[in-house]
Amino acid sequence: MQSYNTHVKRIVLLLAIMALVGYGAKKVLTPSTFGEYGHYRGAAIEKEANRPLKHMTNYSCKSCHAFEWEIHEYGKHKTISCEFCHGPYANHVKDGKYVGRLPVKKGLEIKTLCIRCHNKEIKARPKDVIKTIKMPDHLKSQHVREDHICNQCHHVHAPLRYINRAKKVLGLLTGKEAGNEGR
Ligand code: HEC
Ligand code: HEC
Ligand code: HEC
Ligand code: HEC
Repeated sequence: MQSYNTHVKRIVLLLAIMALVGYGAKKVLTPSTFGEYGHYRGAAIEKEANRPLKHMTNYSCKSCHAFEWEIHEYGKHKTISCEFCHGPYANHVKDGKYVGRLPVKKGLEIKTLCIRCHNKEIKARPKDVIKTIKMPDHLKSQHVREDHICNQCHHVHAPLRYINRAKKVLGLLTGKEAGNEGR
């Protein structure tokens, strides 16, 4: 009798082959430590944990830069990472030894750096967290020429240090602020 179901057999055979190939591929391609702890590669934990460190804390700079560290630590910029302005620790120190220079911004570069965080134009910046200024209005209100650079009035590591010192001299700073100069 003529058989009409050979196509069904072929499909079943094909599906069986695909399932076998799929199973084989899974066996061969799955990394050996997959599923050791969960739905990920167990060895990934060790690999990530052993990445060489590129960044460090501000405290890591203290042993060699106690002077700058101290000013920074007690100023309004204490929450800002030294590395944001100077670049990564790993380019500078290896195994506790000096290995390379970190960049130090100068002149107009400093203005660009400060404006990156303090520009009034950045609308999404919450004012109660970070105070912003409009340029050149900020300089106009201080009655200075527009080519003044931020660090002529603001200490880069403690931006209110000079200003509060001046205010104290003029008797404009009182109470607790006068004690620590509100740096
Ligand atoms: C093991 C000591 C050591 C540590 C830790 C260290 N530095 Fe330095 N740093 C040096 C030395 C030495 C120099 C001076 C190089 C020179 O004068 O040419 C220097 C210079 C610098 C300079 C000035 C570069 C210049 O050309 O004037 C900056 C900025 C600086 N370090 C930032 C940092 C920051 C930020 C950290 C922490 C993330 C840090 N350093 C941690 C040893 C260190
Ligand atoms: C907001 C950006 C900013 C942060 C944060 C910052 N610095 Fe600086 N730093 C500067 C700039 C700009 C200069 C150079 C201009 C100046 O000294 O007025 C500088 C200068 C330096 C110098 C060179 C001083 C010299 O006279 O050669 C050292 C060293 C240094 N910083 C270390 C640090 C360390 C350590 C920290 C963290 C504790 C830090 N800085 C945090 C911006 C910053
Ligand atoms: C990475 C972002 C960042 C950079 C870059 C930066 N600042 Fe700041 N600055 C802050 C934050 C955040 C505060 C607020 C800290 C606080 O209020 O505790 C602050 C505080 C200040 C204040 C005090 C405002 C007040 O009245 O409380 C002044 C002034 C200031 N910065 C000036 C500067 C100058 C000048 C530069 C460039 C040398 C600079 N900042 C670079 C983030 C930054
Ligand atoms: C001629 C001096 C001078 C220069 C230059 C200057 N500032 Fe100021 N800045 C001041 C004084 C003074 C204050 C404090 C005003 C006050 O307390 O009423 C101030 C306050 C600030 C504040 C806090 C604003 C607030 O709402 O409380 C920020 C942020 C600031 N400056 C950033 C900068 C940046 C960024 C630059 C460079 C682009 C810069 N300043 C240049 C003198 C200056």
